[in-house]
Amino acid sequence: MVDVILGLQWGDEGKGKIVDFFASGYDVIARFQGGPNAGHTLYVEDKKVVLHQIPSGVFHENKINLIGNGVVLDPVILRRECETVASFGVDLKKNLFISERAHLILPTHRALDKASELSKGQEKIGSTLKGIGPTYMDKTGRNGLRVGDLLTADFKSSYDKLYKKHCQLLDAYSFNDDISDWEKEFFDAIEFLKELNIVNGEYFINNCIAKGKKVLAEGAQGSMLDIDFGTFPFVTSSNTISAGVCSGLGVPPQKIRDVLGVTKAYCTRVGSGPFPTELENETGELLRKTGNEFGATTGRPRRCGWIDLVALKFTCMINGVTKIIMTKADVLDAFEELQVCTTYKINGNETDEIPFQMTKMKITPAYKAFGGWKTISSAIKYEKDLPAAMQRYVDFINQYLGVRVKYISNGPGRDQIISLS
Ligand code: GDP
Ligand code: IMO
Ligand code: MG
Repeated sequence: MVDVILGLQWGDEGKGKIVDFFASGYDVIARFQGGPNAGHTLYVEDKKVVLHQIPSGVFHENKINLIGNGVVLDPVILRRECETVASFGVDLKKNLFISERAHLILPTHRALDKASELSKGQEKIGSTLKGIGPTYMDKTGRNGLRVGDLLTADFKSSYDKLYKKHCQLLDAYSFNDDISDWEKEFFDAIEFLKELNIVNGEYFINNCIAKGKKVLAEGAQGSMLDIDFGTFPFVTSSNTISAGVCSGLGVPPQKIRDVLGVTKAYCTRVGSGPFPTELENETGELLRKTGNEFGATTGRPRRCGWIDLVALKFTCMINGVTKIIMTKADVLDAFEELQVCTTYKINGNETDEIPFQMTKMKITPAYKAFGGWKTISSAIKYEKDLPAAMQRYVDFINQYLGVRVKYISNGPGRDQIISLS
Protein backbone atom coordinates (compact mmCIF):
# COMPACT_ATOMS: atom_id res chain seq x y z
CA MET A 1 0.00 0.00 0.00
CA VAL A 2 1.26 3.44 -0.97
CA ASP A 3 0.03 6.82 0.24
CA VAL A 4 1.26 10.00 -1.38
CA ILE A 5 1.94 13.46 0.01
CA LEU A 6 2.42 16.13 -2.63
CA GLY A 7 2.11 19.85 -3.19
CA LEU A 8 -0.98 21.30 -4.84
CA GLN A 9 0.38 24.77 -5.63
CA TRP A 10 3.75 26.06 -6.88
CA GLY A 11 5.87 24.28 -4.28
CA ASP A 12 6.91 25.09 -0.70
CA GLU A 13 3.50 24.17 0.70
CA GLY A 14 5.16 22.64 3.78
CA LYS A 15 5.48 19.07 2.45
CA GLY A 16 8.64 18.38 4.46
CA LYS A 17 7.00 19.14 7.80
CA ILE A 18 3.92 17.13 6.86
CA VAL A 19 5.90 14.08 5.69
CA ASP A 20 7.93 14.22 8.91
CA PHE A 21 4.69 14.35 10.89
CA PHE A 22 3.13 11.34 9.14
CA ALA A 23 6.35 9.30 8.77
CA SER A 24 5.87 7.47 12.07
CA GLY A 25 2.86 5.66 10.56
CA TYR A 26 4.85 4.23 7.63
CA ASP A 27 7.74 1.83 7.03
CA VAL A 28 9.19 3.36 3.87
CA ILE A 29 9.38 7.02 2.84
CA ALA A 30 10.30 7.51 -0.81
CA ARG A 31 11.07 10.46 -3.06
CA PHE A 32 9.87 9.82 -6.63
CA GLN A 33 10.90 12.89 -8.65
CA GLY A 34 12.76 16.18 -8.62
CA GLY A 35 16.16 16.66 -7.10
CA PRO A 36 18.04 19.30 -5.12
CA ASN A 37 15.72 21.99 -6.51
CA ALA A 38 13.54 20.91 -3.58
CA GLY A 39 14.02 22.37 -0.12
CA HIS A 40 11.95 20.60 2.53
CA THR A 41 12.14 22.17 5.98
CA LEU A 42 11.79 20.16 9.17
CA TYR A 43 12.48 20.87 12.81
CA VAL A 44 14.44 18.18 14.62
CA GLU A 45 15.19 18.70 18.30
CA ASP A 46 14.16 22.33 17.67
CA LYS A 47 16.86 22.68 15.03
CA LYS A 48 15.90 23.67 11.51
CA VAL A 49 17.01 21.22 8.81
CA VAL A 50 16.44 21.64 5.09
CA LEU A 51 16.45 18.42 3.08
CA HIS A 52 16.91 18.53 -0.68
CA GLN A 53 17.13 14.93 -1.87
CA ILE A 54 16.90 12.74 1.20
CA PRO A 55 13.28 11.83 2.08
CA SER A 56 11.79 13.67 5.04
CA GLY A 57 11.35 10.47 7.07
CA VAL A 58 15.06 10.18 7.68
CA PHE A 59 14.95 11.37 11.29
CA HIS A 60 12.63 8.56 12.35
CA GLU A 61 14.29 5.44 13.65
CA ASN A 62 13.83 2.16 11.82
CA LYS A 63 12.32 3.70 8.71
CA ILE A 64 13.55 3.00 5.23
CA ASN A 65 14.17 6.11 3.12
CA LEU A 66 14.37 5.52 -0.61
CA ILE A 67 15.53 7.88 -3.33
CA GLY A 68 13.62 6.54 -6.31
CA ASN A 69 14.55 6.20 -9.97
CA GLY A 70 12.52 9.30 -10.88
CA VAL A 71 14.82 11.56 -8.87
CA VAL A 72 17.80 13.35 -10.41
CA LEU A 73 20.62 13.15 -7.90
CA ASP A 74 23.49 15.51 -7.25
CA PRO A 75 26.18 13.53 -5.37
CA VAL A 76 27.82 16.71 -4.06
CA ILE A 77 24.62 17.96 -2.45
CA LEU A 78 23.77 14.46 -1.26
CA ARG A 79 27.06 14.15 0.54
CA ARG A 80 26.51 17.47 2.34
CA GLU A 81 22.99 16.45 3.30
CA CYS A 82 24.21 13.10 4.57
CA GLU A 83 26.76 14.86 6.77
CA THR A 84 24.08 17.13 8.25
CA VAL A 85 21.71 14.23 8.88
CA ALA A 86 24.48 12.07 10.36
CA SER A 87 25.33 14.87 12.80
CA PHE A 88 21.97 14.09 14.48
CA GLY A 89 23.14 10.53 15.06
CA VAL A 90 21.27 9.01 12.10
CA ASP A 91 22.99 5.96 10.61
CA LEU A 92 22.47 6.40 6.86
CA LYS A 93 24.04 3.04 6.10
CA LYS A 94 20.98 1.56 7.76
CA ASN A 95 18.13 3.72 6.57
CA LEU A 96 18.96 5.36 3.23
CA PHE A 97 18.60 3.48 -0.05
CA ILE A 98 19.17 4.84 -3.55
CA SER A 99 17.81 3.48 -6.80
CA GLU A 100 20.48 2.54 -9.30
CA ARG A 101 18.23 3.98 -12.00
CA ALA A 102 18.23 7.54 -10.62
CA HIS A 103 19.98 9.90 -13.05
CA LEU A 104 23.07 11.79 -11.98
CA ILE A 105 23.37 15.56 -12.08
CA LEU A 106 26.84 16.30 -13.45
CA PRO A 107 28.76 19.56 -12.99
CA THR A 108 28.15 20.33 -16.67
CA HIS A 109 24.37 19.97 -16.13
CA ARG A 110 24.59 22.76 -13.58
CA ALA A 111 26.64 24.84 -16.01
CA LEU A 112 24.11 24.20 -18.77
CA ASP A 113 21.26 25.24 -16.48
CA LYS A 114 23.05 28.51 -15.77
CA ALA A 115 23.98 29.09 -19.42
CA SER A 116 20.43 28.39 -20.55
CA GLU A 117 18.98 30.82 -18.01
CA LEU A 118 21.51 33.52 -18.92
CA SER A 119 20.63 33.15 -22.59
CA LYS A 120 16.94 33.72 -21.92
CA GLY A 121 17.22 37.31 -20.66
CA GLN A 122 13.78 38.52 -19.58
CA GLU A 123 12.22 35.14 -20.34
CA LYS A 124 14.10 33.35 -17.55
CA ILE A 125 12.32 30.41 -15.90
CA GLY A 126 13.91 31.42 -12.62
CA SER A 127 15.33 27.91 -12.22
CA THR A 128 17.08 26.95 -9.00
CA LEU A 129 20.28 26.50 -11.10
CA LYS A 130 20.74 22.98 -9.74
CA GLY A 131 20.96 21.40 -13.20
CA ILE A 132 17.48 19.87 -13.09
CA GLY A 133 16.31 20.72 -16.64
CA PRO A 134 19.51 19.60 -18.42
CA THR A 135 19.65 16.34 -16.44
CA TYR A 136 16.07 15.41 -17.31
CA MET A 137 16.82 16.42 -20.93
CA ASP A 138 19.67 13.92 -20.96
CA LYS A 139 17.36 11.31 -19.47
CA THR A 140 14.67 11.71 -22.12
CA GLY A 141 17.37 12.29 -24.76
CA ARG A 142 18.85 8.92 -23.71
CA ASN A 143 22.27 10.32 -22.92
CA GLY A 144 22.21 10.51 -19.14
CA LEU A 145 24.32 8.63 -16.60
CA ARG A 146 22.69 6.81 -13.72
CA VAL A 147 23.72 5.94 -10.18
CA GLY A 148 24.23 2.31 -11.20
CA ASP A 149 26.74 3.43 -13.84
CA LEU A 150 29.04 4.57 -11.04
CA LEU A 151 29.68 0.94 -10.24
CA THR A 152 30.81 0.03 -13.75
CA ALA A 153 34.41 -0.01 -14.91
CA ASP A 154 33.83 2.38 -17.81
CA PHE A 155 32.09 5.13 -15.84
CA LYS A 156 34.91 7.61 -16.42
CA SER A 157 34.90 7.10 -20.18
CA SER A 158 31.08 7.47 -20.30
CA TYR A 159 31.47 10.63 -18.24
CA ASP A 160 34.13 12.01 -20.57
CA LYS A 161 31.96 11.32 -23.62
CA LEU A 162 29.00 13.19 -22.14
CA TYR A 163 31.27 15.95 -20.86
CA LYS A 164 32.49 16.57 -24.42
CA LYS A 165 28.91 16.82 -25.70
CA HIS A 166 28.08 19.26 -22.94
CA CYS A 167 31.16 21.36 -23.71
CA GLN A 168 29.96 21.77 -27.29
CA LEU A 169 26.61 23.00 -26.00
CA LEU A 170 28.30 25.32 -23.52
CA ASP A 171 30.45 26.72 -26.32
CA ALA A 172 27.33 27.44 -28.31
CA TYR A 173 26.11 29.48 -25.33
CA SER A 174 29.56 31.19 -25.15
CA PHE A 175 29.70 29.99 -21.54
CA ASN A 176 33.23 30.10 -20.20
CA ASP A 177 32.95 29.65 -16.41
CA ASP A 178 35.66 27.48 -14.94
CA ILE A 179 33.93 24.43 -13.43
CA SER A 180 37.02 22.47 -12.45
CA ASP A 181 36.25 22.92 -8.72
CA TRP A 182 32.76 21.52 -9.30
CA GLU A 183 34.28 18.53 -11.06
CA LYS A 184 36.71 17.85 -8.24
CA GLU A 185 33.86 17.96 -5.70
CA PHE A 186 31.83 15.68 -7.94
CA PHE A 187 34.48 12.99 -8.21
CA ASP A 188 35.08 13.11 -4.45
CA ALA A 189 31.35 12.86 -3.81
CA ILE A 190 30.78 9.87 -6.07
CA GLU A 191 33.25 7.88 -3.99
CA PHE A 192 31.08 8.70 -0.97
CA LEU A 193 27.89 7.80 -2.88
CA LYS A 194 29.30 4.44 -3.97
CA GLU A 195 29.53 3.44 -0.30
CA LEU A 196 25.81 4.05 0.33
CA ASN A 197 23.07 1.45 -0.27
CA ILE A 198 22.55 1.42 -4.02
CA VAL A 199 19.64 -0.87 -4.82
CA ASN A 200 17.31 -2.01 -7.54
CA GLY A 201 14.59 0.37 -6.38
CA GLU A 202 11.65 -1.23 -8.16
CA TYR A 203 12.21 -4.71 -6.70
CA PHE A 204 13.14 -3.19 -3.38
CA ILE A 205 9.89 -1.24 -3.01
CA ASN A 206 7.63 -3.93 -4.46
CA ASN A 207 9.14 -6.47 -2.08
CA CYS A 208 8.41 -4.08 0.78
CA ILE A 209 4.81 -3.72 -0.41
CA ALA A 210 4.44 -7.50 -0.82
CA LYS A 211 5.55 -7.92 2.81
CA GLY A 212 2.75 -5.58 3.90
CA LYS A 213 4.98 -2.59 4.60
CA LYS A 214 3.41 0.84 4.28
CA VAL A 215 4.99 3.28 1.86
CA LEU A 216 4.71 7.07 1.92
CA ALA A 217 5.68 8.72 -1.37
CA GLU A 218 6.96 12.27 -0.88
CA GLY A 219 6.43 14.72 -3.72
CA ALA A 220 8.71 17.63 -4.48
CA GLN A 221 7.76 20.95 -6.09
CA GLY A 222 4.03 21.39 -6.67
CA SER A 223 1.39 20.33 -9.17
CA MET A 224 1.33 23.74 -10.86
CA LEU A 225 5.03 23.16 -11.65
CA ASP A 226 4.35 19.78 -13.29
CA ILE A 227 6.02 19.46 -16.70
CA ASP A 228 2.71 18.47 -18.37
CA PHE A 229 0.05 20.23 -16.33
CA GLY A 230 1.82 23.22 -14.81
CA THR A 231 2.15 26.76 -16.12
CA PHE A 232 4.38 25.69 -19.01
CA PRO A 233 7.11 26.73 -19.79
CA PHE A 234 7.47 28.12 -16.25
CA VAL A 235 7.58 24.68 -14.68
CA THR A 236 10.09 22.15 -13.49
CA SER A 237 11.14 19.19 -15.65
CA SER A 238 9.41 16.27 -13.92
CA ASN A 239 5.91 14.94 -13.29
CA THR A 240 5.22 16.25 -9.83
CA ILE A 241 1.69 14.84 -9.73
CA SER A 242 0.55 11.48 -8.33
CA ALA A 243 1.10 9.77 -11.71
CA GLY A 244 4.82 10.43 -11.16
CA VAL A 245 4.76 8.02 -8.20
CA CYS A 246 4.31 5.03 -10.51
CA SER A 247 7.03 5.98 -12.98
CA GLY A 248 9.32 7.43 -10.32
CA LEU A 249 9.31 4.39 -8.04
CA GLY A 250 8.10 1.50 -10.17
CA VAL A 251 4.92 0.89 -8.17
CA PRO A 252 1.70 -0.07 -9.95
CA PRO A 253 -1.22 2.40 -9.77
CA GLN A 254 -3.49 -0.09 -7.95
CA LYS A 255 -1.18 0.10 -4.95
CA ILE A 256 -1.86 3.81 -4.40
CA ARG A 257 -4.43 4.42 -1.67
CA ASP A 258 -4.57 8.00 -0.34
CA VAL A 259 -3.29 11.08 -2.11
CA LEU A 260 -2.80 13.78 0.49
CA GLY A 261 -2.58 17.18 -1.16
CA VAL A 262 -0.80 19.96 0.71
CA THR A 263 -1.81 23.59 0.19
CA LYS A 264 -0.99 26.73 2.07
CA ALA A 265 -3.95 28.70 3.44
CA TYR A 266 -2.79 31.33 0.92
CA CYS A 267 -0.44 30.93 -2.04
CA THR A 268 3.19 31.51 -2.99
CA ARG A 269 5.42 31.04 -5.99
CA VAL A 270 9.17 31.40 -6.36
CA GLY A 271 10.69 32.02 -9.78
CA SER A 272 8.99 33.41 -12.86
CA GLY A 273 5.64 32.62 -14.45
CA PRO A 274 1.91 33.15 -14.12
CA PHE A 275 0.43 33.59 -10.67
CA PRO A 276 -3.10 35.01 -11.01
CA THR A 277 -3.70 35.78 -7.33
CA GLU A 278 -0.30 37.39 -6.71
CA LEU A 279 -0.44 40.51 -4.53
CA GLU A 280 2.21 43.01 -5.51
CA ASN A 281 1.22 45.35 -2.71
CA GLU A 282 1.39 45.79 1.07
CA THR A 283 -0.81 42.75 1.69
CA GLY A 284 1.60 40.59 -0.34
CA GLU A 285 4.48 42.09 1.63
CA LEU A 286 2.70 41.28 4.89
CA LEU A 287 2.15 37.65 3.82
CA ARG A 288 5.84 37.36 2.92
CA LYS A 289 6.96 38.86 6.21
CA THR A 290 4.52 36.97 8.44
CA GLY A 291 4.99 33.69 6.59
CA ASN A 292 8.76 34.17 6.33
CA GLU A 293 8.39 33.44 2.64
CA PHE A 294 11.96 33.10 1.45
CA GLY A 295 13.11 30.07 -0.58
CA ALA A 296 14.53 27.15 1.43
CA THR A 297 16.92 26.26 -1.42
CA THR A 298 17.85 29.62 -2.96
CA GLY A 299 16.84 32.18 -0.31
CA ARG A 300 14.88 34.11 -2.94
CA PRO A 301 11.82 36.06 -1.71
CA ARG A 302 8.66 34.14 -2.59
CA ARG A 303 5.86 35.90 -4.44
CA CYS A 304 2.71 35.85 -2.28
CA GLY A 305 -1.03 36.04 -2.88
CA TRP A 306 -4.45 34.73 -1.89
CA ILE A 307 -5.48 31.09 -2.11
CA ASP A 308 -6.52 30.15 -5.65
CA LEU A 309 -9.37 27.62 -5.69
CA VAL A 310 -9.47 27.45 -9.50
CA ALA A 311 -5.90 26.13 -9.47
CA LEU A 312 -6.57 23.92 -6.44
CA LYS A 313 -9.64 22.33 -8.01
CA PHE A 314 -7.54 21.56 -11.08
CA THR A 315 -4.71 20.03 -9.06
CA CYS A 316 -7.12 17.99 -6.91
CA MET A 317 -8.56 16.63 -10.16
CA ILE A 318 -5.30 15.62 -11.85
CA ASN A 319 -3.89 14.09 -8.66
CA GLY A 320 -6.99 12.30 -7.43
CA VAL A 321 -6.57 14.01 -4.06
CA THR A 322 -8.45 12.18 -1.29
CA LYS A 323 -7.55 14.48 1.63
CA ILE A 324 -6.30 18.02 1.91
CA ILE A 325 -3.79 19.33 4.40
CA MET A 326 -3.88 23.10 4.81
CA THR A 327 -0.63 24.58 6.11
CA LYS A 328 0.41 27.97 7.47
CA ALA A 329 -3.10 28.86 8.67
CA ASP A 330 -1.39 30.75 11.52
CA VAL A 331 0.14 33.17 9.00
CA LEU A 332 -3.35 34.56 8.36
CA ASP A 333 -4.02 35.13 12.08
CA ALA A 334 -3.72 38.91 11.99
CA PHE A 335 -5.59 39.57 8.76
CA GLU A 336 -8.84 41.57 9.06
CA GLU A 337 -10.16 40.20 5.77
CA LEU A 338 -9.19 37.26 3.56
CA GLN A 339 -9.90 36.69 -0.12
CA VAL A 340 -10.47 33.39 -1.85
CA CYS A 341 -10.23 33.22 -5.65
CA THR A 342 -13.23 31.36 -7.08
CA THR A 343 -13.08 32.16 -10.82
CA TYR A 344 -10.84 33.77 -13.42
CA LYS A 345 -11.99 36.49 -15.82
CA ILE A 346 -10.27 36.10 -19.18
CA ASN A 347 -11.21 38.38 -22.09
CA GLY A 348 -14.47 39.28 -20.35
CA ASN A 349 -15.44 35.61 -19.82
CA GLU A 350 -15.62 34.00 -16.43
CA THR A 351 -14.23 30.51 -16.00
CA ASP A 352 -13.43 28.09 -13.19
CA GLU A 353 -11.03 26.10 -15.37
CA ILE A 354 -7.28 26.50 -15.87
CA PRO A 355 -6.70 27.75 -19.43
CA PHE A 356 -4.24 26.16 -21.87
CA GLN A 357 -1.79 29.01 -21.90
CA MET A 358 -1.64 31.15 -18.78
CA THR A 359 1.42 33.10 -19.82
CA LYS A 360 0.04 35.09 -22.71
CA MET A 361 -3.32 36.22 -21.38
CA LYS A 362 -4.51 38.63 -18.75
CA ILE A 363 -6.21 36.71 -16.00
CA THR A 364 -8.23 38.70 -13.48
CA PRO A 365 -9.16 36.65 -10.42
CA ALA A 366 -12.63 37.07 -8.92
CA TYR A 367 -12.71 36.74 -5.15
CA LYS A 368 -15.05 35.90 -2.32
CA ALA A 369 -14.23 37.77 0.88
CA PHE A 370 -14.06 36.19 4.34
CA GLY A 371 -13.59 37.78 7.74
CA GLY A 372 -10.24 36.93 9.35
CA TRP A 373 -10.11 35.00 12.64
CA LYS A 374 -7.98 37.55 14.46
CA THR A 375 -6.84 34.94 16.98
CA ILE A 376 -3.41 33.55 17.74
CA SER A 377 -4.03 30.09 16.31
CA SER A 378 -0.61 28.50 16.74
CA ALA A 379 -1.37 26.91 20.13
CA ILE A 380 -4.66 25.28 19.06
CA LYS A 381 -4.57 21.49 19.28
CA TYR A 382 -8.16 20.38 18.72
CA GLU A 383 -10.83 21.00 16.12
CA LYS A 384 -13.32 22.10 18.75
CA ASP A 385 -11.10 25.10 19.52
CA LEU A 386 -10.90 26.40 15.95
CA PRO A 387 -12.11 29.98 15.60
CA ALA A 388 -15.51 30.14 13.84
CA ALA A 389 -14.05 32.31 11.07
CA MET A 390 -11.38 29.69 10.32
CA GLN A 391 -14.04 26.97 10.27
CA ARG A 392 -16.08 29.04 7.76
CA TYR A 393 -12.99 29.51 5.57
CA VAL A 394 -12.29 25.77 5.61
CA ASP A 395 -15.96 24.82 5.06
CA PHE A 396 -16.04 26.95 1.93
CA ILE A 397 -12.85 25.36 0.59
CA ASN A 398 -14.24 21.86 1.30
CA GLN A 399 -17.44 22.65 -0.51
CA TYR A 400 -15.76 24.28 -3.51
CA LEU A 401 -13.19 21.52 -4.01
CA GLY A 402 -15.39 18.56 -3.13
CA VAL A 403 -12.45 17.18 -1.10
CA ARG A 404 -12.15 17.79 2.61
CA VAL A 405 -9.41 19.56 4.51
CA LYS A 406 -8.48 16.86 7.04
CA TYR A 407 -5.56 18.59 8.77
CA ILE A 408 -4.67 22.18 9.49
CA SER A 409 -1.03 22.99 10.19
CA ASN A 410 -0.72 25.99 12.50
CA GLY A 411 3.02 26.41 12.91
CA PRO A 412 6.32 25.01 11.66
CA GLY A 413 6.80 22.69 14.66
CA ARG A 414 6.32 18.93 14.45
CA ASP A 415 3.31 18.96 16.74
CA GLN A 416 1.56 22.01 15.36
CA ILE A 417 -1.16 20.24 13.44
CA ILE A 418 -4.88 19.92 14.05
CA SER A 419 -6.77 16.87 12.86
CA LEU A 420 -10.32 17.51 11.55
CA SER A 421 -13.23 15.11 11.49
P1 GDP B 1 8.22 22.30 1.24
O1 GDP B 1 9.18 22.57 0.14
O2 GDP B 1 6.83 22.05 0.74
O3 GDP B 1 8.68 21.23 2.18
O4 GDP B 1 8.14 23.64 2.09
P2 GDP B 1 9.38 24.56 2.54
O5 GDP B 1 10.10 23.88 3.63
O6 GDP B 1 10.16 25.01 1.36
O7 GDP B 1 8.62 25.85 3.04
C1 GDP B 1 7.65 25.79 4.04
C2 GDP B 1 8.07 26.75 5.16
O8 GDP B 1 6.97 26.96 6.03
C3 GDP B 1 9.16 26.20 6.03
O9 GDP B 1 9.93 27.27 6.52
C4 GDP B 1 8.40 25.52 7.18
O10 GDP B 1 9.16 25.46 8.39
C5 GDP B 1 7.25 26.46 7.33
N1 GDP B 1 5.99 25.85 7.77
C6 GDP B 1 5.46 24.64 7.46
N2 GDP B 1 4.22 24.52 7.99
C7 GDP B 1 3.97 25.69 8.63
C8 GDP B 1 2.84 26.19 9.35
O11 GDP B 1 1.81 25.55 9.48
N3 GDP B 1 2.95 27.46 9.87
C9 GDP B 1 4.07 28.21 9.72
N4 GDP B 1 4.08 29.43 10.25
N5 GDP B 1 5.15 27.76 9.05
C10 GDP B 1 5.09 26.53 8.51
P1 IMO C 1 9.94 22.24 -3.11
O1 IMO C 1 10.04 20.73 -3.21
C1 IMO C 1 9.26 26.00 -5.18
C2 IMO C 1 10.72 26.30 -9.30
C3 IMO C 1 11.87 27.24 -9.57
C4 IMO C 1 11.55 27.65 -10.98
C5 IMO C 1 11.01 26.37 -11.60
C6 IMO C 1 12.02 25.56 -12.37
O2 IMO C 1 10.81 22.84 -2.08
O3 IMO C 1 8.52 22.65 -3.05
P2 IMO C 1 14.07 24.03 -11.67
O4 IMO C 1 15.27 24.32 -10.82
O5 IMO C 1 13.21 22.93 -11.17
O6 IMO C 1 14.42 23.86 -13.11
O7 IMO C 1 13.20 25.38 -11.60
O8 IMO C 1 10.51 25.60 -10.51
N1 IMO C 1 10.97 25.30 -8.24
C7 IMO C 1 10.43 25.34 -7.02
N2 IMO C 1 9.64 26.26 -6.43
N3 IMO C 1 9.59 24.88 -4.52
C8 IMO C 1 10.34 23.93 -5.10
O9 IMO C 1 10.58 22.73 -4.53
C9 IMO C 1 10.85 24.16 -6.39
N4 IMO C 1 11.64 23.46 -7.23
C10 IMO C 1 11.70 24.16 -8.37
O10 IMO C 1 11.85 28.32 -8.68
O11 IMO C 1 10.52 28.60 -11.00
MG1 MG D 1 10.57 24.02 -0.45
